[in-house]
Order: sequence, then C-alpha cells, then structure tokens
Amino acid sequence: MAAAVLVSRPASVLPRFSSSCSPVVLSAIPLTVQQRKVHHAVIPRGKGGRSSSSGVAATVFGATGFLGRYVVNRLGRMGSQIVVPHRCDQYDLMYLRPMGDLGQIIFMEWDARNKDSIREALAHSNVVINLVGREWETKNYPFEDTYVSIPQQIAKATREAGITKLIHVSHLNADIRSPSKYLRNKAVGEMAVREEFPDAIIMKPAEMFGREDRFFNHFASDPVYSTDSLCFCSSQVVDVAKAIINAIKDPDANGKTYALVGPNRYLLHDLVEYVYAVAHRPFVPYPLPRPLYHLVASFFAMNPFEPWTTPDKVDRFHTTDMKYPGLPGLEDLGIVPASVEQKAIEVLRRHRRFRFLEAELADTKPAKTVNY
Ligand SMILES: NC(=O)c1ccc[n+]([C@@H]2O[C@H](COP(=O)([O-])OP(=O)(O)OC[C@H]3O[C@@H](n4cnc5c(N)ncnc54)[C@H](OP(=O)(O)O)[C@@H]3O)[C@@H](O)[C@H]2O)c1
Repeated sequence: MAAAVLVSRPASVLPRFSSSCSPVVLSAIPLTVQQRKVHHAVIPRGKGGRSSSSGVAATVFGATGFLGRYVVNRLGRMGSQIVVPHRCDQYDLMYLRPMGDLGQIIFMEWDARNKDSIREALAHSNVVINLVGREWETKNYPFEDTYVSIPQQIAKATREAGITKLIHVSHLNADIRSPSKYLRNKAVGEMAVREEFPDAIIMKPAEMFGREDRFFNHFASDPVYSTDSLCFCSSQVVDVAKAIINAIKDPDANGKTYALVGPNRYLLHDLVEYVYAVAHRPFVPYPLPRPLYHLVASFFAMNPFEPWTTPDKVDRFHTTDMKYPGLPGLEDLGIVPASVEQKAIEVLRRHRRFRFLEAELADTKPAKTVNY
C-alpha cells in the first residue's frame, strides 16, 4: 500500500514540517490517510511477544482476582495494553506489574457504583473483560450488585463507548432455579448483559482449579462435603484464561456463549479422595447431610473477612455440573483441556508433607470418571 497511515498521536510524536516548506515539497510527501480514532499503540506490530503490540487494549474488571492474574499475564505476554481498574491498595497489585512491558499495564482506581468511573476505565480500550465476582455477600455488595448490576453497567458503558468486544465470565451452573443465590444471580446477570450488549461473549467455566483456587485448596484443607452424589468436571484456570484470549482474537466468537469444562466428570467423593491421594495425606472424609452442613456453614459465614465456607457455597459446591452439548467449548477455541490428573499436582504439592514433596505422581491411582 503506497499510502502511509498516519494515526492520531501526541503532537510531540507527529512529524514536524517547518513553515518554510514549499508547496512543491509538501506535494512530494505520499498521500496520508488519517484515522483519528486509532491510537498508534493499538496498531499490531512486532513478532507477537511481550515487547510487540498485539493491537489489543483491554480493560480487565476484576483483574486482581484468581482468574484475573492469568488473564492479565496472557494479555501482557502477547504485547497488549491492559487497564486494571482496582479498589485495593497499590501494594496488593505489585504481582501484576511485571506481567506486561514497561508502561503497558495501567492501574486506575474505580468504584463499581460510579458510572463515570466505569466509563473512564474503558474509554481507551477496544476489549472489555468482566471478571468481577465474590463468593460471599457483603453488607455493601449483595450478589444482585456483584453479578447483575455491575455487569449490566459495564455492558452498557461498553456499548456506549462503541467497543465491539465484551467478554463476561459467568458460571457453568448459572440457573435461575438453583438453590444457590450466587448461581441464580449469575443467570440473571447473563441475561442482563445479553440485553445491554447482544454481541457479548459469555464464558461459563465450571469450578476452576489452579494454584490460588478456592476449590482444591478448600477440600485439601478439610475434606467436609455433603452426602449427595454429585458430578464435577472442573476446568483448569489456565485453560479458561487461554479461552478468553482466543475469544478476543476470534471475530466469530462475538455473541456466543461458551461452556468451559475439563475433559472428565467425577463424583465429588472420588475427586476429593484423589486430592488427598496426590497430597499424600490420609483421607478421612466427613460427609454431612446437607442441612447439618448448612448449620456448620452459617457459623463460618459470620466471619466478616473471608469465610471458609457459607451456606450458599455449600449449595453451589453441591450442584451437579450441567451439561451443555449445544454450546461451543474449549476445543472450539483451539484449546485441548487439561485434565485434573495432569495439573492437580501444581495446586496440591504445597499440601504435601516434606518427605513426599518430590514423590512420583505415577504412584497415585487416577480418580474414577463417570459418564452421566
Ligand atoms: N473461581 C472459580 O472457580 C469460578 C468458577 C466459575 C466462574 N467464576 C467467575 O469468574 C469470575 C472471576 O472469578 P475469580 O475466582 O477470579 O474471582 P475472585 O478471585 O473472587 O476475584 C474477583 C475480582 O472481582 C473484584 N470485585 C469483587 N467485587 C467487587 C466490587 N464490588 N467492586 C469492585 N471489584 C470487585 C475483586 O476485587 P478485590 O480484589 O478488590 O476484591 C477481584 O478482583 C467471577 O465472576 C466468578 O464468579 C469463578
């Protein structure tokens, strides 16, 4: 293409022509096409690594959470600009800083209830990712706010800003009839996001496992669960992060809902038994009838900080994972899902006693899988 593309940059970066330039000299300069809305930082260039530019400028709401760190890391290593709206202390963000090239990660404070602060956070982005979530309700933020109002406001602001890519993370078991309030609100949130932004990409991961999870780490610290027989098909957090990145790159992903699950289904008892086998610790399960477990959980729910469990978490963890044969999944985004047997060790090694730290995984019998 003969025409050079001149994009809007700060005045100091634009080529300067002295006022003494004659019209003849100016006419010799190749024709320029000016795209004022495109900032040079989002024009793809380079070989695709951390110091190149992927063309993605993403605002990641909820980047300071479990899934957020994996998403920011993947965005950073392909050379994206990342805006991280946060409400925590600067010191709590330090682990995110090295994930991108110098100046590529921009931190800004936001208030989820302030519409202007949402607008400001996504004003310079071409991709918006919503990972906001909380496992328990707080006095300030009930599940209705966390999973319905905030996603709705983000979707609305994204549409109004003219951004075409919005990724909203919901839950595999989001269901309006679920006994868990978290999952009921997730279902309403999905509908609210679709209504505001019909082209949104909705990701429905199963419970995720990874180093900082509240799933394997939860069971590894106490094998208490309800007597109901339930099936789980947990997905690895890295696979979910890769799915989000691949959905950004895939223009056909817009408007789709993805069910992100691991390759196998397990009974909860077998899964927890496997967790203990990998951790080389004696498995002494405490299967409780659900009402009794609720009672125990309501005692823990009184903790004003991070409760170990809550009655709602008991209900959420004791819901058989839904099957969505009609929805695309990880494979449709070019990802081969990792199994629990391949990756659980990364989470569970820290739960081993010293003499078993380096024990071979091959000695551990894989968990039984089920097909229903
Ligand atoms: N973890 C799983 O296994 C799993 C499974 C399926 C779906 N999901 C969904 O995936 C998403 C990400 O999960 P996650 O495990 O990464 O969650 P997480 O670790 O709890 O992180 C949630 C993020 O949301 C932010 N946040 C929560 N409430 C907020 C509020 N009122 N205002 C502003 N920021 C707020 C948190 O900020 P602070 O750090 O400031 O609190 C944090 O950055 C959530 O929507 C979750 O429901 C998770």
